[in-house]
Amino acid sequence: MLKPTVDCSSLRAEDEGKDVVLAGWVSSWRDHGGVIFMDLRDIGGITQVVFGREKSSLGTEKERELIEKANSIRKEYVISIKGKVQRRPEGTENKKLPTGAVEVIVEEVEILNECRELPFDFKNMEAVGENTRLKYRYLEMRSGRLRENLIFKHRFFNETRNFFSGKNFLEIETPFLTKSTPEGARDFLVPSRMNPGKFYALPQSPQLFKQILMVGGMMRYFQIVKCFRDEDLRQDRQPEFTQLDMEMSFADEKDIKNLLEEYLAKVFKKLMDVDLERPFKSISYEQALYKYGSDKPDLRNPIEIKDITDIARESSFMVFKNASQKGMVRGFKVGNGEKISLSDIDRLTNEIKDLGAKGLAWMRFRDKKLNSQITKFFTEKQLERISSRFSASEGDILFFVADKESVVLKALSCLRDKFYSPDDKRYEFVWVEDYPLFEKDEETGALKSMHHPFTAPKEDNFNLIKNNPLKIKSRAYDLVLNGSEIGGGSIRIHSLKEQKEILRLLGVSSSEADEKFGFLLKALSYGAPPHGGFAFGIDRLVEKMMGLESIRDVIPFPKTQKAYSPLTDAPSYVNTKQLKELGIGLDSEETLT
Ligand code: AMO
Ligand code: AMP
Repeated sequence: MLKPTVDCSSLRAEDEGKDVVLAGWVSSWRDHGGVIFMDLRDIGGITQVVFGREKSSLGTEKERELIEKANSIRKEYVISIKGKVQRRPEGTENKKLPTGAVEVIVEEVEILNECRELPFDFKNMEAVGENTRLKYRYLEMRSGRLRENLIFKHRFFNETRNFFSGKNFLEIETPFLTKSTPEGARDFLVPSRMNPGKFYALPQSPQLFKQILMVGGMMRYFQIVKCFRDEDLRQDRQPEFTQLDMEMSFADEKDIKNLLEEYLAKVFKKLMDVDLERPFKSISYEQALYKYGSDKPDLRNPIEIKDITDIARESSFMVFKNASQKGMVRGFKVGNGEKISLSDIDRLTNEIKDLGAKGLAWMRFRDKKLNSQITKFFTEKQLERISSRFSASEGDILFFVADKESVVLKALSCLRDKFYSPDDKRYEFVWVEDYPLFEKDEETGALKSMHHPFTAPKEDNFNLIKNNPLKIKSRAYDLVLNGSEIGGGSIRIHSLKEQKEILRLLGVSSSEADEKFGFLLKALSYGAPPHGGFAFGIDRLVEKMMGLESIRDVIPFPKTQKAYSPLTDAPSYVNTKQLKELGIGLDSEETLT
């Protein structure tokens, strides 16, 4: 094989006259009256190679053979060529290509492999359906954008490792074949052949192990690690995804948040040349829900929600009056309201109806006062109070939703997203803090952890445990970037007594606790240091950094919404012999191969 001496991105004008060998894929092929031009591509870039230009020093016979061979080459063939670097004739330079000042006049070519007809045109990837792209992921990688994303992710990993190693963190592996880690999703189970009837769970996170590492005196741990969660998938969720997981002993919230801000500032500067403003903003969970209707607010969007339940209660608009008894009435203001037509409002109304809202009320501020079909149900004074609450001015439109809290927040948060331009390239980070330790399970009414059961309560909140556990605030902090939760963490419980008490409140009996997390509980009793940590969802973070639409754009081999891989056809049926070995019987014979 003609082995490459340079790569396809490196040749410049000053390389003129050099003899080189290049190898790669033929990205384009053009015949200009007997002179054949090819763009040869490797991971780094493209170089134009030319067959049959007069300046070639080959004899005519050899020249003819070369052209013949060139004529048999098609797009995406793998070739290597030997030739001389030459400046492109004046006027034919390509300013867009780093190698655009030169071309290589081919003297020898070797076809290393052929390529069958492509399933899609690389130039028009937008038009290719997701399933096809995932099926031919290796071709998509060659086509450009995905390749860039994966290179970027590699650089991100590199910077991450450098940063944490530089701060004396150790990268330590934790097992994949393990026990359930409660992070709120279902487990993926792996049957154990050696222990019939028993299953490992793939970790939803390394949470328990990283705490045990702290008990083991490892002090500062980090890991770039796959996590597995069997949950309903969306644009920002995959069944397996990558966390940057870390844990520190003898640290409080401030130490951890400072360190992570320093890390992000370094990575953003290095990889994006972006200076992040520090310290990052922070907001309490309660305030986030009040102002933005969501604990993952996108702060690029300036719209803030206001409450008018008090005014609604006094009005004679029954929809509002009724909601004000059992629920609430909230809304927000949008400028340039003239641009929002009645049919736009109908469309928005239908969208929030899908979320359980019963309607969308609105008022326009026109001719110095609020107008709409519902303003007749309000006194002048009440309307004035509404407009002053929103600081409404000429041209503004106000939207309101009246319902129980969960519906109002969901609907307004969704509506709020509709009124901002996604082209906004800023990075708005915000820490969300002061979460309740527990929430009520809507179905069973039982307490459940808002994060995971190892999260410490605020120090002075422990006395609320007996009478008002829902009022306890936790020492958890999530980090949100442009409306996406890119990570979460907390200070942990390091006292065995406290941990047992929290598990008891969660309705986990002591025998169940022993069975599920006995190993952690035991470790806590052997001198566990105070500790805390955090985990970034790296796929989400990198997706947001690059301004992409889905985490699938930064995952080399992602799954579809149905947790299916079109490339490998996983998951797949297995044969009866394999199942028998594992001691597994299936209900339906059809599912066997
Ligand atoms: P948490 O469950 O919040 O915390 O997970 C941390 C971050 O991981 C990302 N993430 C996901 N990304 C893609 N697909 C998924 N299915 C998915 N699920 C979560 C999110 C999330 O913020 N052990 C704790 C961390 C800690 O307390 O230190 C944990 O796993 O960006
Ligand atoms: P109706 O009295 O149902 O015809 O509603 C009058 C207006 O109030 C319409 O614009 C509805 O969309 C709106 N509306 C109805 N229910 C609600 C609600 N729960 N919250 C906000 N607006 C509502």
